[in-house]
Amino acid sequence: MHVLIINGSPRVKKYSNTDKILKKFTDGLVSEGNTFEQYEVSDRKQWDSIRKAFSEAENILMAIPLYVENIPGLLLEFLETVTPRKNDADIAFIIQGGFAEASQLRCGEEYLEMLSRNLGCEYRGTLVKGDNFSIRFFEGKKQDMVTGPYQRMGEIYGKEGNFFGEECKAFAGPETFPPHMRVFLGIIFNTVGKIMFNKIARDSLGCKEPLDLRPYGT
Ligand SMILES: Cc1cc2nc3c(=O)[nH]c(=O)nc-3n(C[C@H](O)[C@H](O)[C@H](O)COP(=O)(O)O)c2cc1C
Repeated sequence: MHVLIINGSPRVKKYSNTDKILKKFTDGLVSEGNTFEQYEVSDRKQWDSIRKAFSEAENILMAIPLYVENIPGLLLEFLETVTPRKNDADIAFIIQGGFAEASQLRCGEEYLEMLSRNLGCEYRGTLVKGDNFSIRFFEGKKQDMVTGPYQRMGEIYGKEGNFFGEECKAFAGPETFPPHMRVFLGIIFNTVGKIMFNKIARDSLGCKEPLDLRPYGT
């Protein structure tokens, strides 16, 4: 099959985690004899081309990062300009986020099932997975450790044309962490995590103040 892939991230391609995930996913997709074309919603110059491709595609895959518990505002803005299909196309989704517990992606997942109907497409499932914050800060093998498993998911989608199978469901990982893990992670976040986040903010993002600065706080 030929798949129209739309990266729904507002981040430009170069910095988009979703794009790095798609690189591995499409390796798997192509290895099963499929072809694809990919567009970026972050590039407004592509919007006309995406709308045209959307109106003609038989198989559509939208890959979406979670932004504040649901889909990014820029993607919503784009979707409002799309003419719905007449139930003559299949649509599947990849939804991914920074936090590891799958439970917080479920609201977005439900929304996407509803979105399929609003777009006049046949729903072919959503591949859900968190724990992806770090992708853009890693390179090479370290990045591959996070993105690599998506290759297998690309193979499955390439064979089945959907994400309904058990292996895709299990890909989501833990729904919620057990209580002892939450306590442990709370300690890590407030100690080592705090130092690491401040270092990333300072060295990679040019942040000049500590992340918990409250200039207007009392
Ligand atoms: C403004 C903003 C809001 C975010 N909100 C969430 C969130 O609610 N839940 C989550 O798991 N990750 C959240 N993230 C993390 C992103 O989903 C994650 O880093 C993702 O891999 C980004 O993909 P992208 O680089 O393709 O945009 C947020 C990131 C940003 C910048």
